Amino acid sequence: MRSHYCGQIDEKLIGQQVSVAGWVHRRRDHGGVIFVDLRDREGLLQVVFDPDRADIFAEAERIRGEYVLAVTGTVRERPAGTVNPNMPTGSIEILAHELTTLNDSETPPFHHDENANEELRLKYRYLDLRREKMLGNLRLRHQVTKAMRNYLDDNGFIDVETPMLTRATPEGARDYIVPSRTHPGKFFALPQSPQIFKQLLMMSGLDRYYQIARCFRDEDLRADRQPEFTQLDIEMSFVDEESLMSSMENMVAELFKTVMDIEMPTPFPRMPYVEAMYRFGSDKPDLRIDLELTEVSDLLASVEFKVFAGPAQDPNGRVAALCLPGGNDLTRKEIDDYTAFVGRYGAKGLAYIKVNDEAAGRDGLQSPILKFLPDEAITGIMQRTGAQSGDLVFFGADNARIVNDALGALRVKLGEDRNLVAEGWRPMWVVDFPMFEKDKQTQRWTSLHHPFTAPSTDDPSALRADPGSVLSRAYDMVLNGSEIGGGSVRIHDRKMQAAVFDLLDISDDEAEEKFGFLLRALEFGCPPHGGIAFGLDRMVMLMAGEDSIRDVIAFPKTQTASCPLTNAPGEVSAAQLKETGIRLRTTRTE
Ligand code: AMO
Ligand code: AMP
Repeated sequence: MRSHYCGQIDEKLIGQQVSVAGWVHRRRDHGGVIFVDLRDREGLLQVVFDPDRADIFAEAERIRGEYVLAVTGTVRERPAGTVNPNMPTGSIEILAHELTTLNDSETPPFHHDENANEELRLKYRYLDLRREKMLGNLRLRHQVTKAMRNYLDDNGFIDVETPMLTRATPEGARDYIVPSRTHPGKFFALPQSPQIFKQLLMMSGLDRYYQIARCFRDEDLRADRQPEFTQLDIEMSFVDEESLMSSMENMVAELFKTVMDIEMPTPFPRMPYVEAMYRFGSDKPDLRIDLELTEVSDLLASVEFKVFAGPAQDPNGRVAALCLPGGNDLTRKEIDDYTAFVGRYGAKGLAYIKVNDEAAGRDGLQSPILKFLPDEAITGIMQRTGAQSGDLVFFGADNARIVNDALGALRVKLGEDRNLVAEGWRPMWVVDFPMFEKDKQTQRWTSLHHPFTAPSTDDPSALRADPGSVLSRAYDMVLNGSEIGGGSVRIHDRKMQAAVFDLLDISDDEAEEKFGFLLRALEFGCPPHGGIAFGLDRMVMLMAGEDSIRDVIAFPKTQTASCPLTNAPGEVSAAQLKETGIRLRTTRTE
């Protein structure tokens, strides 16, 4: 049907006969001559229908946008003055002498419009994917997975598939569950990750595993979270965190080199979790933004202003400052908007000081809170933040989590709003995470990473003494403010695994019921091992310069975890429910 892709036709083919097939991107009637931009995967080609050829001209008059055509014609140079420099094939066209309309098309609900409503784009995803940008994203994704596979194959990794119908895999989200017909009343869980299986493969002696694996998590969705997403999942035996991190950063650097021709210097910088929170209010700092939080708790512990003194004296509190160079031009309205913005993170206000004239001391400053602050506090703040004339200093005062969340997010927002995000790629590792954190509601300890992560101590009894201060052997890879991967060295000692379950309040019975198979496997010669999983969607999103992972997934779900294209999730028949032993408590009409 075709000799060339539309986008492949160039000057070298001038004078030759070619056959192309594709979609009508645009059709223009120029008083007697019809021009069609024909589109396929590789690009656009201008096809000319001349009235001299009455038979095909009549057909060309009938065609409309998105009709599917097969055209045979002769490649020719465009007449002088009609060359289109914006089109790769802009200097040539083909003069059609055969035309077959392979299919008609309804008028599409949107036409190559990236601003079309997203719900509509997802409902007609096949039309949305016709856009050059979207096709480009899918191709980029293919390039990335191909480069990953090449690198991993060259380095001795073996690709193994693990089950989709399985038991709960604890990664902290809710499970998607699947009823079993053969075991009424019992359910499979879709994997939140292949975590346990990849560890079992290490116990099998596979040594180096990888899988481009689908993961399922029923959690609150955001621009960088989908209920089903893809990981590049990796596990290695006989490694420690140093060798793992270095091998993984080499892989990422090589990926960027191969796919994007970008050099990422290795080793990537490493930053302890505590430092990341302290300086950036985030465990995934965007290092492209040159703004940092400054600790000022000690300067404000004894001031009269309770908003500051309270958190400054509280061991769980924090008072931090964020100096915005040149920020003194912010209007009242802008500051109010930023106050509302940090409110979303729980901040009760956003105090600030404008620095009009640094040399003039207190008189050179402008702030609603100035009157509450003694001279020493003001001098200390000015010195520590390095604020200069023309700057503005924001303050957050609350429990440390709220201050970090609020000022961490404000830092990124100011970076974007004020054009302070430097060009380029800033990868890093965040290390030395706490092993456990206390759930605010249940007051129980939970794993920050997952319960198979090794603590930095080898002594199981050391965990109990002060669980909150134990560090884990986990690491996250962060790129431009996005957590693109996370992993850890694992527990390979049964006693330690039992101690961790115990601390997490997982009873012996529950541990046996849920993870007995893993505990057993630890008894049969488990090698030291560790691994990591990269969020493939997030990596490709960053490479493609998109803001949402939905734009790099062919058929994603909406923010409410549904699919406007297929209308999934859908209802099932009464017979299917009966077979699987399920009775619904409510029906839609109730
Ligand atoms: P973790 O839960 O950190 O680790 O996930 C690894 C990476 O997967 C990506 N990711 C997501 N991407 C899109 N949508 C989601 N809902 C989503 N959730 C996570 C992130 C994250 O860094 N089994 C461990 C890995 C290990 O220990 O080896 C795990 O799954 O980029
Ligand atoms: P108020 O005394 O409540 O009028 O607050 C005085 C200033 O402090 C205002 O600019 C508030 O936005 C700010 N503010 C109030 N609570 C906080 C807080 N928890 N952290 C930072 N600033 C605050």
